[in-house]
Amino acid sequence: MLDLLIHNATLPDGRNHMSVAVQGGRITEVTQGFTPEAATASEVVDAGGMLLSSPFVDAHFHMDATLSLGLPRLNQSGTLLEGIALWGELKPHLTFEALVDRALAYCDWAVANGLLAIRSHVDTSDPSMLAVEALLAVKKKVAPYIDLQLVAFPQDGVLRNGGDGTRGVPGGFDNLKKALSLGVDVVGGIPHFERTMADGAASVKLLCELAAEQGKLVDMHCDESDDPLSRHVETLAFETNRLGLHGRVTGSHLTSMHSMDNYYVSKLLPLMAEAQLSVVSNPLINISLQGRHDTYPKRRGMTRVPEIMAAGMTVAFGQDCCMDPWYSMGSGDMLEVASMGLHVAQMTSQPAMQQCFDAVTKNPARILHLEGYGLEKGCHADLVLLQAQNPIEAIRLKATRLKVWRRGALVAQTPARTAALSLPDRPVSTSFLHTK
Ligand code: FE2
Repeated sequence: MLDLLIHNATLPDGRNHMSVAVQGGRITEVTQGFTPEAATASEVVDAGGMLLSSPFVDAHFHMDATLSLGLPRLNQSGTLLEGIALWGELKPHLTFEALVDRALAYCDWAVANGLLAIRSHVDTSDPSMLAVEALLAVKKKVAPYIDLQLVAFPQDGVLRNGGDGTRGVPGGFDNLKKALSLGVDVVGGIPHFERTMADGAASVKLLCELAAEQGKLVDMHCDESDDPLSRHVETLAFETNRLGLHGRVTGSHLTSMHSMDNYYVSKLLPLMAEAQLSVVSNPLINISLQGRHDTYPKRRGMTRVPEIMAAGMTVAFGQDCCMDPWYSMGSGDMLEVASMGLHVAQMTSQPAMQQCFDAVTKNPARILHLEGYGLEKGCHADLVLLQAQNPIEAIRLKATRLKVWRRGALVAQTPARTAALSLPDRPVSTSFLHTK
């Protein structure tokens, strides 16, 4: 007997009238029309022709800072650098309990929004490992409903923060290694925040070598500035090639690529593709934080998403921040993230809009190396039913998550969005769906 049968669903690839059968937390069948087991399922759900998708995945977040907006004060300039300074002011006041409480509250929002896998950076600069211990506890607590992957993120740099790990001086590099030894999954970095370009490049080399040594994935904040000469992604690709880390390394942000010389980019893209780099762009944050030193015209400051995709690399859109020192908005809604990415990158053709949906679902799943993700037989029964007829409509409407399942069990549901109308000679309600 099946645990769950969802029928009359439309899938993101356009197939409609589809049925998805679930047993023991896994998808056992994906077929058109009813399956013979229909009568023997414990729960049968009529999707009503709406979109059934694998869950949203966020490849870039900061769960240690989330929901701390206003503590101890607000970011006045709106810049990345004031955000980093503000986070530094907050750090001495952080407690384990408050970190866990805020992270769990965000995870509630995530589940309600069908966001069931998150890669979160965690600041490893503090030798006490307070934030690391807190997020490791959160990871364990939410494991039944969210795959939380942690990145050791040296917010204050690995070389500028008191030593390079080779001279026996405790510093950013040692703290990062300590975080990995405690169970953090991925090696992070922040080369553009090191003191010089040379130190930035040296940090990339050091961190990639560490990842190769320990068999870890890499995800670095890289070139998060409008400086066209910030080219650490070149070193990241070179080191990836040199150390044979192909397919295991991600460059996050890469905003300087927006401002780079086109000839240089024509040389850079093949190097990145050769290294099979993955890229995470964070549209809400990039459009808010970048271009702050410009008058007009004001640069958008988001990396070259369509061009990187066209070069064959995997690109995801991340949330990055939600109500923290860098960003006052956000709610864990990856469709809002996809919508902003679509607009800023002008990805308005039908295939490009579809790619924007992929950038918050299957692309980040690939970047996280998630096991069992997808809408195929044998995959985990992690599913989201959206009040939309296709992925493009889902982005347009930031569609209501009607039902969210984790391993076949219902974990969240939201009533359909319908407005009652009182108009002469018009329907009595609308739900904003496009009917031809
Ligand atoms: Fe970030």
